Amino acid sequence: MHKSKAIEESEEMDDKFDKTKSEDIILSVKNLKMHFPVVKGSLRRNVGWVKAVDNVSFDIKEGETLGLVGESGCGKSTCGRTIMRLLKQTDGKVLFGIDGKKVDLSTINDKIEMQKFRRKMQIIFQDPFSSLDPRMTVRDIIG
Ligand SMILES: Nc1ncnc2c1ncn2[C@@H]1O[C@H](COP(=O)(O)OP(=O)(O)O)[C@@H](O)[C@H]1O
Ligand SMILES: [Mg+2]
Repeated sequence: MHKSKAIEESEEMDDKFDKTKSEDIILSVKNLKMHFPVVKGSLRRNVGWVKAVDNVSFDIKEGETLGLVGESGCGKSTCGRTIMRLLKQTDGKVLFGIDGKKVDLSTINDKIEMQKFRRKMQIIFQDPFSSLDPRMTVRDIIG
């Protein structure tokens, strides 16, 4: 069977990362960065960057749950969207363990190829009615 470029590249990468890797790591995020340009005026001049995700690395093993906690606007959603390839990362790698192989999702540019992985990973959007306690006032919740 023809191997995709992403699978071939991730096999090469396995050699580099093998020392620390364990079979049951299903998601490995390495030095992930997502910087958004700040543009100004009608010429849309780039006047700076919002470093929403800046050098984030973590591993998740099978059966493990990871909580990402932080104040509003600190980059939690952007981190999730970048891992899911809904945003093209500025830098870094996202290795996803599938069928005993690690695929670098950050190298996949093809929508059809990405669909294969989207079946195995998903974002569940927050339901405000279950996450906000109706017995508490907004002042108490954010206070
Ligand atoms: N598409 C985008 N373009 C420009 N800036 C963005 C974009 N998405 C998010 N940001 C900025 O990135 C930062 C992190 O946002 P976000 O990931 O939504 O935070 P959180 O989910 O932790 O509340 C914020 O400053 C936000 O304004
Ligand atoms: Mg968010």
